[in-house]
Formats: sequence, structure tokens, C-alpha cells
Amino acid sequence: MTKLSLDKILQSQGFGTRKYCRDLVEDGEVSVNGEVIRSCKLAFETAGLQFRIFDEDWDYRERVYIVLNKPANFECSRKPSHHPGVLTLLPEQFSWRDVQPVGRLDHDTTGMLLMSDDGPFIHAQSSPKRHVPKVYQARTADPVTAELVDTLLKGVKLHDEPAPLAAIFCQKLDENLLEIVLEQGKYHQVKRMLAAAGNHCAALQRTAIGRLTLASLALEEGDWCYLAPEQLGLLVP
Ligand code: URA
Repeated sequence: MTKLSLDKILQSQGFGTRKYCRDLVEDGEVSVNGEVIRSCKLAFETAGLQFRIFDEDWDYRERVYIVLNKPANFECSRKPSHHPGVLTLLPEQFSWRDVQPVGRLDHDTTGMLLMSDDGPFIHAQSSPKRHVPKVYQARTADPVTAELVDTLLKGVKLHDEPAPLAAIFCQKLDENLLEIVLEQGKYHQVKRMLAAAGNHCAALQRTAIGRLTLASLALEEGDWCYLAPEQLGLLVP
């Protein structure tokens, strides 16, 4: 059980500084259970708390776990340089509470991007020790051949990598579409593996992480959703 005053609750949820949140409460912008609360002296149980601010309903969340269906031309880096950052696709409260991408997709890669403000979760999910499979669909410049699939499964040597990297699963989906599953998340890994195998990646989409599929989330490109505990459970191998 955690009881907090409304200004502290709002600050934890990314609505701004403590002072700004206190002003919001005193200005009558926040209600709990249909009642406008103008005092920060009252404390509320955070578990299951629902509040309304600027005419929008919010659930209190100690940590947020999000999936974004990333469109092309957005950068995952904290300081994007050539394209807008993926955080611009989320409500600004998430930037305030330090939500970050879990790993990175290239600016031109689309599909499933996890985001969270839970540091240990981000660390665990990105750790190579966890062997979380990531599924990609790569559109290839040249036709997908049996030799290409075989080479990617056997492993290819990439510059700067001490040992060859292999896909844990790989299959032809159509003439120029390949599904490839990787356990690691090295820089430009799919693109570099395809190049090393003699083809070229023309477009790339991440379609699943662990057993959680993008299709099951039914998100349009650019849309996001919170992950429920049972969906988080699917992120492990
Ligand atoms: N591999 C790539 O080459 N790019 C990505 O964005 C993800 C995996």
C-alpha cells in the first residue's frame, strides 16, 4: 500500500515538476473519482487510482510498458539528429517520466518497439544472456534462395564481430521476403547479415519479440498500446 499526495502522484506520472503539479491541483484541473481535488494535503492510495486531468482519464501506473508500431523515419536515439525521435509519437508525459526504447531499431526499420521507464526491465530485456528471439521480415533486393537461407542459418562473419552470427530460424515467405529470427541485437545486424550473405535488405520490419507478435496487437503504424501483464509474460523465450 502506497499513499501519496496528488502533486507527488502527478509528478511520478510525468505531468511536470512538483510545483507545476501542485499548481494544477490548486487550479482545480485534477479530479479523483469524479470529485475535483484542490488540496495537496490529501493522500491517495496509488494502486488502482484513476484520475482525470485536463479532461483526460489516466490510470496510475508505477511503471509503464509500451509497444509502439514504429513507422519509418523516426529515430530511437535519445538525441535524434536527422529524423524526429520515437518519443514524439507518445504523450509527452512519457518523456517526463523517462520512458526509453528497449534496444534500438534503425530509423528506416518499422514494427515492434518496446518502451519503458523500468530500468531493470530494459536491462534484462536487452541482455544477450536472456536469448530473447526477435523476429524480422526483410524485403530483399534479390530473390530469396535456399542458399541464402542456409547461409544465414549456418552463420556469417561480420566485420568487428569475433565469431560468425547465425539466425536461429530463417524462412522464405515469398520471392523477395525473408523471415529471420535473431537472438542478438547487434548494430544493423539483419542488414549486415544479408549483405554478408550476398543479398541486400531493401526494407525491414520487426514482427515479434519472444512470443509477443505485432499482429496480435493490431496497431496501425505510429500507434502504441500499454502491455498487460500476460503480454509482458510473452516477451520471454
Ligand atoms: N537489424 C537491422 O539491421 N536493423 C534494425 O533496425 C534491426 C535489426
